[in-house]
Amino acid sequence: MSYPTNKNLPIGIFDSGMGGLTVLRALQNTLPHENFIYLGDTARLPYGTKSAETVREYALNACDVFMQRGVKAIVVACNTATGPALPALQEKFHPIPVIGVILPGVNAILSGANPQGPYVVLATEGTVKWHAYRDALTVLDPSRKIMEWPCSLLVALAEEGWCEGELVQNILRRLLQPLFDTLQGEQPACLLLGCTHFPVFADAIRQVVPNIPVIDPATMVAQQLKSLLSIHEIESSTNEKGTVEFLATDGIERFARVAPIFLGYDLKPEQVQLVALDFSEQRKKKAS
Ligand code: DGL
Repeated sequence: MSYPTNKNLPIGIFDSGMGGLTVLRALQNTLPHENFIYLGDTARLPYGTKSAETVREYALNACDVFMQRGVKAIVVACNTATGPALPALQEKFHPIPVIGVILPGVNAILSGANPQGPYVVLATEGTVKWHAYRDALTVLDPSRKIMEWPCSLLVALAEEGWCEGELVQNILRRLLQPLFDTLQGEQPACLLLGCTHFPVFADAIRQVVPNIPVIDPATMVAQQLKSLLSIHEIESSTNEKGTVEFLATDGIERFARVAPIFLGYDLKPEQVQLVALDFSEQRKKKAS
């Protein structure tokens, strides 16, 4: 694979579904002249309850779409996929730069959390099980307690577009009460939204758990991408407003209907393209 010399190629953004649109929104705000291709692997969502091997395979397979279309960088806008798949994606697509969301998440904690109390990361079952946050945080701040707390159910609610109201607040209470029981009165230094589907619940979480910083790392991801483009000297050379191509592996009408909750602007179904992933190689590998 050769290095991207065309600065006006798009940047690929990948998530299991619509959660990564919360990252896209921050990227568009910070980098308004860049073009993006967003891919949601809606046919295989959720990733958070699957094994690390399956998630790695899905991510490697899905990101081939970016290679077919041509991109100058890739953002894995999915915490669950970043843990098990980032090194494999970086190796596969080298020299095209590939970044994930865990490191920006860690930096967002270090700059936004209160000075005392445990760092709490709300994430999918997979991210919690693979300890991607704990491993990265203990290197930088070994003295602080870290709690990774599973909230996979929120992914399904977010994909339904249910992110506010009494029912959502009751579900949040049910998910978070055992966390606070475990903490036995200790006040968390922050609640990091360690799944890109969770920022749509930020207001509801603040209502249920007031006075604790609720941190969305998306702006930090945008800052990291901005520095990366500058280091590689591949920033867009135009002053025109950037474009976005939206791709999904299933349910484009549904994608367009629910996307505004994550994106903050409307999408029409005709703006979303259905992409067929080639699973045959994977099947052959599994069968052998
Ligand atoms: N949005 C993904 C993340 O950031 C996970 C959603 C899923 O379970 O597929 O972890």
